[in-house]
Amino acid sequence: MRKLWENKVSRRRLIGGAAATGAALPVLHGLVPHEGLHGQEAEAAGEHIAERHAAHRGAGHIGGVGSVDARTNGFDPHEILRDFDEGTLRGGVREWEIVAEEKEIEVAPGVRYAAWAYNGRVPGPTLRAREGDRLRIRFTNGSSHPHTMHFHGIHRAAEDGVPRIGPGNILPGESTVYDFDATPFGLHLYHCHSTPLAEHIAKGLYGAFVIDPKDGRPPADELVMVMNGFDTNFDRSNEVYGVNTVAFAYMDEPIRVKRDELVRIYLVNVLEFDFVNSFHIHANFFDYFPTGTRLEPRDFTDTVVLGQGERGILELRFPYPGKYMFHAHVSEFAELGWMGFFEVTD
Ligand code: CU
Ligand code: CU
Repeated sequence: MRKLWENKVSRRRLIGGAAATGAALPVLHGLVPHEGLHGQEAEAAGEHIAERHAAHRGAGHIGGVGSVDARTNGFDPHEILRDFDEGTLRGGVREWEIVAEEKEIEVAPGVRYAAWAYNGRVPGPTLRAREGDRLRIRFTNGSSHPHTMHFHGIHRAAEDGVPRIGPGNILPGESTVYDFDATPFGLHLYHCHSTPLAEHIAKGLYGAFVIDPKDGRPPADELVMVMNGFDTNFDRSNEVYGVNTVAFAYMDEPIRVKRDELVRIYLVNVLEFDFVNSFHIHANFFDYFPTGTRLEPRDFTDTVVLGQGERGILELRFPYPGKYMFHAHVSEFAELGWMGFFEVTD
């Protein structure tokens, strides 16, 4: 698989040319997590597929050959799901320390990517505050490029984390403090705003930013899903897609939830290079709160489409036990890593 990923075939050419020539199929099929899809058309693609078949059977595994070792990455997509960082409250101020650094991560089995990370994670920590809190983020740039932290929300210009305003670009080895109020309540995000902007975001400098309403939300099993992707050959399109970075992470190991329990998903789209992303749940429907800024749902649906930087809160209950798929309804993204399962138990 590594050899296939690393050849410099652009994904666009890959997808566009696959049907006509079959030549590009090995890479695509290397990621398609269904044995059943390794069918006749794959046979035509030659020896790579034969290797792949053997590897798949040997691994007895869906989602590619082998798996990504969370210990090597230093973060686990399953832990990121339920990991909320509420910072430290000091004298009525909620504080975090965030460091930007360079870090090689594995985004699919055998596919390594030279990422930039906040606090060693991609996505960065999910920062969580309550409406009206005073927030103080101490940001240090531990990498060799200028970076910032730009938060979505309502604040003064100087706290906006963009070049040439307030502290502007934070140079390598330097630090700054961003200081603002948690408002409005909802689901937001933060990301680097240095230029070239698409690259600084795509390299991994982003995270979810949750502001709870003053009176909170009903108790639920809460999950953070940051939809992202990786341009592994620097052609300004993504070759790998996922939720919380690792392709097929929740295919390999489903997300376990309880039957009838309220599940709340904080869904953020930080994908670069593709205009839209989406989330689709099988055999169920959810209440949808765009940006989480109102307490009444706008929609009751099974699919939402999000533009770049768009996010929303999903609430649902699973009435039946079993395994239920969720994935991007952009099928191309699903086949390149953005699909998973919920496993519902009593
Ligand atoms: Cu940056
Ligand atoms: Cu933004």
